[in-house]
Amino acid sequence: MADNRRPETMERITTPALAEAFIAEQIEALRAQVGDGKVLLALSGGVDSSVVAALLIKAIGQNLTCVHVNHGLLRKGEPEQVIRVFQEEMNANLIYIDAVDRFLDKLAGVSDPETKRKIIGSEFIDVFAEEARKLEDVRFLGQGTIYPDILESEAGVKAHHNVGGLPEDLKDRFELVEPVKFLYKDEVRMVGKALGLPASMVDRQPFPGPGLGVRCTGAITRDRLEAVRESDAIVREEFAAAGLAGKVWQYFTIVPDYKSTGITAGGERTFDWPVVIRAVNSVDATAATAEPLDWALINKITDRITHEVKGVNRVLYDVTPKPTGTIEWE
Ligand code: XMP
Repeated sequence: MADNRRPETMERITTPALAEAFIAEQIEALRAQVGDGKVLLALSGGVDSSVVAALLIKAIGQNLTCVHVNHGLLRKGEPEQVIRVFQEEMNANLIYIDAVDRFLDKLAGVSDPETKRKIIGSEFIDVFAEEARKLEDVRFLGQGTIYPDILESEAGVKAHHNVGGLPEDLKDRFELVEPVKFLYKDEVRMVGKALGLPASMVDRQPFPGPGLGVRCTGAITRDRLEAVRESDAIVREEFAAAGLAGKVWQYFTIVPDYKSTGITAGGERTFDWPVVIRAVNSVDATAATAEPLDWALINKITDRITHEVKGVNRVLYDVTPKPTGTIEWE
């Protein structure tokens, strides 16, 4: 337990200079832990795993293998960004796995939210384990565990993905490498910036592990999933243009699995899905309030979504606080 406590002497990382000092220290510590051994890391493109990847690239270069699993439930442009930043700019040893069909086939017809989550989680472990078995000489597993993860696991609030989730044959093989495990989120972001990661990666809003899967309610279909992805991209673009990126805590869209009647400008009847916009403010996700969005912005987003996103004829704004509504719809 003692190595799971942030040392009392550890200074809070609040400036770029302190972030640089942390990076220099961690590079030494990582080299000392790993030596010339090899490290495997599941790189989602989220802040924590991206920062761990960037630290390990600096410390051990090609002895790090990153695995990026595209499960088809990522936001628009995310897999491309991971490849661009890590493979092209940082020259990382990156294995990109296109598992889109595999995930969507497994999820076809499954409408229960908890079952969907379980399928996504266990399929992810399976895909990752298959890659890990191919890399027989790797003995270390990098993880983007951060300090709140440790505190929440201890308090029994959340179970965190860790080596415990791996199948028996792999569980004992790995020693964990967790360079940011004593950092709070704001410190991880500060370190990410100092490592040169793009702001769009470092300042990302929270994004659930099951991704867009919990925003394509009920049984996921490819066309409705595309409607979630495209409408989400429009909302992100318009929030950025309105200066709200980084100011509103979390914002995204949901596409429910029912249709309603509409009409085109040419007078033709339509029967299509609605898109629900959710934009909330929160401190720690346990409670949230809806952002009082500007009406002109809602109109602009509605106009774009109804004209640009296939299969959609209506837009709604969810004004529900948490409680009573959770932030996600599933
Ligand atoms: P809810 O919907 O419970 O969400 O109000 C609270 C916060 O947690 C995120 N969330 C998840 N994050 N795996 C995650 O890593 C999940 O399964 C998951 N479900 C919800 C959600 O986006 C919000 O920020």
